[in-house]
Order: sequence, then C-alpha cells, then structure tokens
Amino acid sequence: MSIQRRISRRAALAAAAGAFVSAGIARAQNPPLGAVPGVADDRGLDLVPGPDCVRPTVGATEPVDFAPFSLRRAMLRDAITDQLPLRLSGLVLTADCQRVPDAVVDLAHADENGAYDPMGIRYRGHQYTDASGAYRFETIRSGPYSGRTAHIHARVQGPGTVLLTTAIYYPDLTELNAADPSFRSDLTMKLARTADGWEGRFDFVLPLAGVGV
Ligand SMILES: [Fe+2]
Repeated sequence: MSIQRRISRRAALAAAAGAFVSAGIARAQNPPLGAVPGVADDRGLDLVPGPDCVRPTVGATEPVDFAPFSLRRAMLRDAITDQLPLRLSGLVLTADCQRVPDAVVDLAHADENGAYDPMGIRYRGHQYTDASGAYRFETIRSGPYSGRTAHIHARVQGPGTVLLTTAIYYPDLTELNAADPSFRSDLTMKLARTADGWEGRFDFVLPLAGVGV
C-alpha cells in the first residue's frame, strides 16, 4: 500500500467498508455485494475482555492510503499462497470495557514479501463484529518492507464510536520492530504458534464519538 496522504475523516468513513450511510456513523454498507449490515452471526469465540480494555487503542501515526473498496469477508488467505494461516481474532470494546456488536473491522496488509496488491484487493477485507463484539479473520503473516516492520493496517468503527485507524504488529519480530519508529508495543497482537499456523489476538478499544475526543 502506498503511503501517500492522510485520509480525511470523510474519506475514511467512505472507504472503510464501501460507504457509511450517514455522518452519524453507525453502520456500514457494501453496496457492490449487496451486503445488509446487521449483527453478524455468533462466531462462538467466547472471548473475554482483557485488563487493557480501559485503555483506548492508539491510532497509527503514519498516514495510510486505503484503497476505496473493501470486500466483506473473513477469509483473506487465498488459494495461491503457500503461507501458513494466521487466524486473527479479538473484540471491539468501548473504553469502559463494553462489547461493541456490529462494528466494522477493516484490515489491509502486505503479502509475505512486503508487497501490497496494487489493486488493493488481496489481503484486504472487512467484517462486522458479532453480538459479543468479536471478529475473526483468516489470513497470513504479512512481511516487512522498506523501513517498516511487518504490520496489519486496521480501521475500526462501531455504532457511536470514533473511527480508529491503526496498525497491528507482531511480537516476535524484535529487531525489525525496534528499528521501525512507527512501531508501538501497545499495538502488538498476542501471537501463538499452532499446529498448522498462527493464532493472533488483538482487541480494539474505541472511545465513544464526542466523548473526550
Ligand atoms: Fe503498510
């Protein structure tokens, strides 16, 4: 993904999942797919908020140019990759640790070699949190590129919350992380190696819109 400009709030809202239906922002639509916003089916993840849920997730410092279209999908790992799966899941929460159903979680990342799809389609997609505030994607581990440790760009917004644009990092890239001035340890996912890949966990904590922001 080329980093070209800091997107405006309006552009961010429009790009996060196709288009947001109102300036008030509660739900997103993806008209090309005919998706109907609504609380997603229960993902059965049974995730519990961690102690960090009182701390709003910090936004990324680097400007990111998200491609304007995002498919609504949980599976970002495609058939042509030979990379191990990374299953990334987590909760969307408010700063008082309340779960946020029906929040949009929109991810974009580079491939294993640090290259972004110039069309902005590969390794890009969004979904809505379920009634427990949970999301889950299946993808691969992204690779580092010039001057950047490996990361996953994310934009998240729930009904009534601010729009968060941030990035998630991998905890096991110690040297690359230390060399990247944009890296933040509090944006690091929990990561475990599984029998067939990787299991990641990252919770997004969003302030309510208009509350101290
Ligand atoms: Fe990036």
